Amino acid sequence: MPSAIVTGATGILGREIVHRLGNNQKQWDSVYAISRRKGEEFPASVRHTFVDLFGSADAIAEDLEGARAEYVFFSAYVEKASEQESWQVNGDMLQNFLAALEKTGVAKTLKRVILVTGAKHYGVHLGPSKNPLQEADERLTQAPFPPNFYYRQEDILKAFAEKHPHVSWVVTYPNDVIGLAKGNFMNLATSVGIYAAVSKELGEDLAFPGSEEFYTMFDSFTDSKLHAEFCEWAALEPRAANESFNVVNGDVHSWQTLWPLLARKLGMKVKSDQFAEAQQKIKETELVEKPPISIYESELGLEGRIRRGKIQQMVDLVQWSKQPDVKQAWERLADREGLEKDALDKATWGFLAMVLGRNYNIVMNMTKARNIGWTS
Ligand SMILES: NC(=O)c1ccc[n+]([C@@H]2O[C@H](COP(=O)([O-])OP(=O)(O)OC[C@H]3O[C@@H](n4cnc5c(N)ncnc54)[C@H](OP(=O)(O)O)[C@@H]3O)[C@@H](O)[C@H]2O)c1
Repeated sequence: MPSAIVTGATGILGREIVHRLGNNQKQWDSVYAISRRKGEEFPASVRHTFVDLFGSADAIAEDLEGARAEYVFFSAYVEKASEQESWQVNGDMLQNFLAALEKTGVAKTLKRVILVTGAKHYGVHLGPSKNPLQEADERLTQAPFPPNFYYRQEDILKAFAEKHPHVSWVVTYPNDVIGLAKGNFMNLATSVGIYAAVSKELGEDLAFPGSEEFYTMFDSFTDSKLHAEFCEWAALEPRAANESFNVVNGDVHSWQTLWPLLARKLGMKVKSDQFAEAQQKIKETELVEKPPISIYESELGLEGRIRRGKIQQMVDLVQWSKQPDVKQAWERLADREGLEKDALDKATWGFLAMVLGRNYNIVMNMTKARNIGWTS
């Protein structure tokens, strides 16, 4: 039976992969879960090990002493202030980790490496892309597009597989992940939940803090458990070798439906005129001048028609989370309900602002995976 190494074991995507493999002991002999923090109970077949991926290949190899694996799932990630820094640090983490696998001898037994990246591969953080997003779409490598660490990671992995021809690779592209994690960098459910609960505590109706335009547009979400199931399937499916895949829930969703659902769930109602003050209140941030779709503008017959993307906020969420009334309401709520007080500070308000504030659709296509047998 094979063994696996999973990096990012405390992350929103990685911890679900650890649970998925750890709970399938008929398939996975042992699972080496890697991160710097600990604090979670994993199934008995999981060995949760401290490894700092900022270290050199030698240092990582030393920490990996005794680990063996036929499959590696790489979902470690660190947020950085600039795309260039992110390119450097996240690329180096993967590079050093793979070099460490060579030093420990694990590279000799490896069969497949699954790298978790995301829809930023298509530049969804830079403005409108051509929809639906498909794996064969072109990379955004020319100016004005900033460096994209996913491209560097993908290229590092492909070079590693070329050097070790018995190793194949898979890359996943999840988007706007819904799952469980503490103190991570991108966590949609926690921040939406806190925003709604504090609004209720303050006696307010639920008002959408993002873009009025986006409220009736479409997004594709990834359930972290479904992503873990996909990673396990893609590791073992021969036809998935050396391919990248969108990994989303398989349908699109829209806040026009989700927001009233959330309000009902919390015994609230949506503020009936939530966009009435839009012109006075709205905070807009312009994204890159030429959005990702612009590389196709002639081919699509849209020359000169492409508009720049924006992040539009009815409520500046970063500022909102620092307001004294919000802090007091959260403290009251946390005391009363036995919640973790630091969750308000740890929630990812900038990320939520982007997810709710963009004024363009993100529709991801699952056809490629379905064509080779993915049915969930
Ligand atoms: N979250 C989303 O909504 C989303 C959406 C699309 C794509 N993605 C992509 O999915 C990938 C995984 O992201 P995520 O959201 O799951 O990240 P995350 O929740 O922030 O988790 C990051 C993981 O990396 C580990 N890590 C960071 N630095 C490390 C180091 N020096 N040594 C060892 N481990 C380290 C962290 O563990 P410790 O801190 O405990 O070491 C943690 O387990 C990224 O490429 C991300 O861009 C995420």
